[in-house]
Amino acid sequence: MKKTAIVLLILFGLLVAGCRMIERTPVRPDSAPKKDGSALPSNAAAPDPQPASGPASAPQPVSEPAPEAEPEVADVLAACGNYQPALRESYDAYQQANPRLSPQEVVAQVNLGLNRPFYTEIETIANPDDLLVLCNKYRALPADYEPADLKALAPENTVSGRTIYLREEAAAAFGELCAGAKAAGYTILGQSGYRSYGYQKTLYNNYSARDGQTQADTYSARPGHSEHQTGLAIDIRNASLPYTSFGKALEYQWMKDNSYKYGFVLHYLPDKQNVTGYQTEEWHYRYVGMETAAKVWDSGLTYDEYWALFISGSEPSSEALL
Ligand code: DAL
Ligand code: ZN
Repeated sequence: MKKTAIVLLILFGLLVAGCRMIERTPVRPDSAPKKDGSALPSNAAAPDPQPASGPASAPQPVSEPAPEAEPEVADVLAACGNYQPALRESYDAYQQANPRLSPQEVVAQVNLGLNRPFYTEIETIANPDDLLVLCNKYRALPADYEPADLKALAPENTVSGRTIYLREEAAAAFGELCAGAKAAGYTILGQSGYRSYGYQKTLYNNYSARDGQTQADTYSARPGHSEHQTGLAIDIRNASLPYTSFGKALEYQWMKDNSYKYGFVLHYLPDKQNVTGYQTEEWHYRYVGMETAAKVWDSGLTYDEYWALFISGSEPSSEALL
């Protein structure tokens, strides 16, 4: 009988010790051990090595779980298309000076050069024949650049049947756009297409003489900087209003909804003068092809910003063309 009581006491003692161990060992539902140990979270500390000696049944001291590491703040700037590590300080300074801009706008605008004044450190465009070329206040076309594939638009698609040229692919797309507008009951007419360096120089000088250079710079490009010299830009109007009133025409609404389907984008968007350098021009469209036009439209960005994020730097180098 005594023996039985002793055995019972020992069993009771073991039971109490076991319960204490269970209470002190935190068990996370997602860390049930698997045979290969794969249930351990990847950042979990490796289990402490067991001491080499000592009673196997003695309860081991269980340390408190390590506090969760602070989650790393995602580098939202570095995640943007065409982020350039060498410009990091410029991005940070620009973001501080323009706290309302999204990280994407910051990267795009610094890449474009908007952290310095317009018409400074001007780059000569190396690939003027690229259908996605960007010509703006930091990027100039060579004075003698004239596209080799200029084609006259159909006279029924131009104001008073005047002769207007665009590059071949853009001219064909403009014909399709005019036909699409006509089928919907609207009239779109070309007002001005390709302009040579010399013609743009005359225009700009005349506007500067009339309004002063500062004012002229808000609506007219300096020679070499006009998108019209690429042969990929066109000013349009409807049948009744002057082209500068195109924003009031029903055709403007139609263009908003449909121009990208023909490969054209509105370039000088409202409220983006700080980016493009120009007041909004509801009449000025740029041909970039259907695929890119749809993406630019979806992005809500100016073509300059889209180019800086997703196109710049992806063109083949001149070496690759050799
Ligand atoms: N009006 C546009 C900006 C140009 O002169 O090219
Ligand atoms: Zn224009």
